[in-house]
Amino acid sequence: MTIHGNTKVLGLIGDPVGHSLSPAIHAIFAKDTGMDAVYVPFPVSADRVEEAVKGAFALGIQGLNVTVPHKQAVIPFLSGIDKAAADTGAVNTLVRTEQGYRGYNTDVTGFLREMRECGADVSGKTAVMLGAGGAANAVLTALLSSGAEHVYILNRSVEKAEKKFGAFPRVTVLPLSGFWKLPEGRHFCVQCTSVGLFPNTEEAVITDPLFYEKVSLAIDLVYRPADTKFMRLVREGGGKAANGLFMLAAQAAESYRLFTGREVPEETLQTAMRAAESAGKV
Ligand code: ATR
Repeated sequence: MTIHGNTKVLGLIGDPVGHSLSPAIHAIFAKDTGMDAVYVPFPVSADRVEEAVKGAFALGIQGLNVTVPHKQAVIPFLSGIDKAAADTGAVNTLVRTEQGYRGYNTDVTGFLREMRECGADVSGKTAVMLGAGGAANAVLTALLSSGAEHVYILNRSVEKAEKKFGAFPRVTVLPLSGFWKLPEGRHFCVQCTSVGLFPNTEEAVITDPLFYEKVSLAIDLVYRPADTKFMRLVREGGGKAANGLFMLAAQAAESYRLFTGREVPEETLQTAMRAAESAGKV
């Protein structure tokens, strides 16, 4: 692409950012929607978040995505924050306004779209989450806003999960080994830990086959490799499984819409997802 005097600059701040697939995804969005924009990864250390946000604003950067570990740390330096981001307690998208950047969380929208893509319907039903780290916040917000009757969060450290999510209505925290306490039947399950991520491709957060007899449909937020050990265990237990690639593309599309006002067509979303899949191939 060629950069002109008026090319809009979008970007990503986090630490690290070198592995990110977002630049490739946003390049496809810009090309397909005819937008003169570039998307640049900026590595920012934890002690320079304030400088980075203020500096980016001073430089006229149109919008930024925020990734680990700054999703909470950016909040004090924003001019405002959207409700979904406030509910989630994390911001992954900064949109330029006259007063400063406004914070949004497009992981929630991205996950809701992934659920729709997979045919997941949790309204009035039980849902299960594995893990209570950074990725779990948006998933829990999405599940509760979709009308899940109850969400069981299974985590290695019960204390950590209790501290974060124990006070939420309709939420129960259990240890990983406590899956036998789940209600009868099969449930929708979301794998929110980083277990199984390349290069640890033979690991899964729970390996007991009895757990997988309780899973109807599962989404593994891990997408590298595209077919994770967790997904294989779900299928072996008789359930269906998808990875988090669609969520990755969908959250990016929502950020792009907020940055530019342009909708990403469905076809472009699919192209971006395939590109992300081949870029992330191991
Ligand atoms: P974050 O997403 O906040 O950066 P993380 O350290 O990557 O945090 O952990 C995300 C989730 O994966 C947590 O639920 C973590 O469990 P703990 O709260 O008990 O630390 C879970 N996790 C990470 N490695 C794990 C492992 N080897 N076995 C089980 N759970 C694990």
